[in-house]
Amino acid sequence: MEIKTYLNEQRLVVEGALEKYMPAAEVENGLFSVHIEAMRYSLFAGGKRIRPILCLAAGEAVGARPSLETDLLPIACALECIHTYSLIHDDLPAMDNDDLRRGKPTSHKLYGEAGAILAGDGLLTWAFDLLSNSEKSKLLPEKRLAIIHLIARAAGSLGMVGGQLLDICHENKEFPFETLRAIHRNKTGALITASILAGGIAAGADQAQREALRRYGEQVGLAFQIVDDLLNATSTTAQLGKAAGSDACRGKATYPGFFGIEATRQKAGAAVAEAESALNIFDAKADPLRAIARYILTRSH
Ligand code: IPE
Ligand code: IPE
Ligand code: MG
Ligand code: MG
Repeated sequence: MEIKTYLNEQRLVVEGALEKYMPAAEVENGLFSVHIEAMRYSLFAGGKRIRPILCLAAGEAVGARPSLETDLLPIACALECIHTYSLIHDDLPAMDNDDLRRGKPTSHKLYGEAGAILAGDGLLTWAFDLLSNSEKSKLLPEKRLAIIHLIARAAGSLGMVGGQLLDICHENKEFPFETLRAIHRNKTGALITASILAGGIAAGADQAQREALRRYGEQVGLAFQIVDDLLNATSTTAQLGKAAGSDACRGKATYPGFFGIEATRQKAGAAVAEAESALNIFDAKADPLRAIARYILTRSH
């Protein structure tokens, strides 16, 4: 399997589902049309869709039946809504103050700060509407509840939101490596791990499989943010579709800041190797997860 082809195909599957599940701008006689347009603007701006793709691949690893795709896709889309909301808020002037995201002007540049904040709020809330809507997916109530709780925990104050706060509070400060590790684990690792576990749970993963997926998720999540730090330090704005060099400008806590470029590359490689070894209990159905872990090391944006 060629990983680029796989990712491209899965991205299209996710985008088709997002199109199906997101409200259209004409909803409610156009009363909220600018708000819906703002949500859709960021959602369809061209993300890699790595979290939903990981969710589907984890389902596949456990042995999702084809029909499960209709159960998994609403979860996958909810994860992308949460991720996109986090980017809209991350780019706000009060946070990272970025003008470019996914190769386009950031939400607040087009819709103003209030419009961007509300687009983020709308996407976050829509995610839980989608997750809890029994017309959109046919998961058993018990599984649905476990998945909603898992994702809520990962996205909130004990996960992504908490990590974002730590990230902002540690700009231009000295602190131990454990703090950097906690920032990465929470701001990025938590939602990535939850995406993988949610796919596994929906597909009926047993306890050992859940544990393996959690270990895989934590390492892949870490590698993903380390590579994000590396790309910020070494790539170009044109290549990334977001401002290169911004971490150093803002005094952000990053792996290259702690260890330099070469040692950071090695740490990303080590995390991916650990992620792959966590999957030893799975057969060839986990090959897409293995390939995605390796792709994360070589990604260019
Ligand atoms: C960027 O995430 C922010 C991080 C958590 C590192 P992605 O690299 O997944 O961004 P998109 O969705 O592809 O734009
Ligand atoms: C983004 O982290 C993490 C979340 C949005 C939760 P960064 O601020 O490091 O990511 P980029 O570089 O803006 O994509
Ligand atoms: Mg940030
Ligand atoms: Mg940022």
